[in-house]
Amino acid sequence: MIQFLMNGRIHTETDLPADTTVLQYLRRDAGRCGTKEGCASGDCGACTVVLAEPEGDTLKYRTVNACLTFMPAIQGKQLITVEDLRHRGELHHVQQAMVDHHASQCGFCTPGFVMSLFALEKQKNAFDVTHTQHALSGNLCRCTGYRPIMAAAQAICEAPQPDQFDADTQRTLEKLRSISTSEQPVTVEQLAERYLAEPDSRLVAGGTDLALEVTQRYQRLPKLISLSHIAGLKEITLTGQAIHIGAAAPLSECLPVLHREFPEFGELLERFASQQIRNQGTFGGNIANASPIGDGGPVLLALGASLLLRCGTQQRKLPLDQFFLGYRKTALQPGEFIEQIRIPRVTAAARQLRVYKVSKRLEDDISAVCAAIQIEIQNGVVAHVRIAFGGMAEVAKRAACCEAQLLGKPWQTATVELACQALELDFTPISDFRASREYRMQVAKNLLRRCHIEMTSPETLMRVTHYV
Ligand SMILES: Cc1cc2nc3c(=O)[nH]c(=O)nc-3n(C[C@H](O)[C@H](O)[C@H](O)COP(=O)(O)OP(=O)(O)OC[C@H]3O[C@@H](n4cnc5c(N)ncnc54)[C@H](O)[C@@H]3O)c2cc1C
Ligand code: FES
Ligand code: FES
Repeated sequence: MIQFLMNGRIHTETDLPADTTVLQYLRRDAGRCGTKEGCASGDCGACTVVLAEPEGDTLKYRTVNACLTFMPAIQGKQLITVEDLRHRGELHHVQQAMVDHHASQCGFCTPGFVMSLFALEKQKNAFDVTHTQHALSGNLCRCTGYRPIMAAAQAICEAPQPDQFDADTQRTLEKLRSISTSEQPVTVEQLAERYLAEPDSRLVAGGTDLALEVTQRYQRLPKLISLSHIAGLKEITLTGQAIHIGAAAPLSECLPVLHREFPEFGELLERFASQQIRNQGTFGGNIANASPIGDGGPVLLALGASLLLRCGTQQRKLPLDQFFLGYRKTALQPGEFIEQIRIPRVTAAARQLRVYKVSKRLEDDISAVCAAIQIEIQNGVVAHVRIAFGGMAEVAKRAACCEAQLLGKPWQTATVELACQALELDFTPISDFRASREYRMQVAKNLLRRCHIEMTSPETLMRVTHYV
């Protein structure tokens, strides 16, 4: 059974298959076709809807892709679609701003943009170009261009207006709190017990990877265990030594903490997929899917992260180096799951993290190559180095030969050139539609050279994101 709030009413669904997406439900079962299906793979944002859930005595609004969200994830939440915005015959002011600024032509993308702008306005921040670009990073428009849409965003943020959702906050909170708890696990212990008893079930955290099996490969996933309702898996805590990230914490919640500790990790996360996907996707899913082009793997390897794994009542700690076994193969045993990702905090002021993502688009694109370099220079000599790449092998992998060429050597061009040659011993990349093997190898070497130039002549601006 799934219960959620929509259009002021609690809906109870008892017969839905667990792998029904919110988009399928809206368009097919609820007759709400305002939410569009463009790509069904998280790339276009036409299906953007907003989920609201209690946060203290108020509501937190966030965008998600309805095409990638399975129905169990909306249990106990308010589902807001574009149909809900019009009130007493009047357009919502977000919709009106889109009209006023001529920000819609064919209109196919428009409901998605409207929902992203609606969630942006609910954050009640002053207008900021970068922040708005991030909020819209998962919405594509082919007709209008982004200038009028940005103008609409600016108008909305500069003159926010209370709406029917603000007026209804208390009633909405009461209704959401009256919804009975999830049939899905709500504690880590319940999850551990259930997964051990049914190890053939598929775990679903954000679903931003798993849902593609349904929408792109037309597979059925009859046995799903949702991690969405387990508060203990969403905690992010800092100790003196480490950052502990719950495996099901949404990436958008991890971003501020990681940005503070490792600014370049934060910058990478701002380019990780789109706002909608970051609101759903998790590091647990990113690591467990063991994708060779996932962005979490290389950075976490360079930072020396480890995983807390759990099977039933047994827990074990495993360095991430030992987790990826082969193409999409991991060290997870049947019934075992990732409980936490642990990242050592850096105390040495001289230790730096550099992260480089090379993709065809700046936002909402998967890496062709991703490099992460943790390095410390003492008296001109490399005193510590961990380098890892994504997109260069069948798994995210450290560059052991390259590291050996650098460690203990003077941090100078000649050393870097030898380290570049060593990358040929570390990796034999493949060609695919993202990049050729030659390109990948050349880019990997150039990223190491770039790291050296950035560190030795910081006045040289090397990144588009820093000078455009
Ligand atoms: C349009 C688009 C853009 C994307 N862009 C990027 C990008 O820029 N960079 C990038 O790295 N990835 C990207 N991805 C991939 C995906 O969004 C990320 O890998 C995300 O972090 C997956 O997390 P999730 O919680 O959604 O995983 P899910 O889909 O929920 O799960 C993925 C897999 O992990 C398993 N799993 C989940 N949690 C656990 C756990 N705690 N323990 C054990 N197994 C678990 C699931 O059973 C499943 O097999 C993109 C995806 C899309 C659709
Ligand atoms: S339909 Fe394109 S992102 Fe969902
Ligand atoms: S108005 Fe046509 S795709 Fe945006």
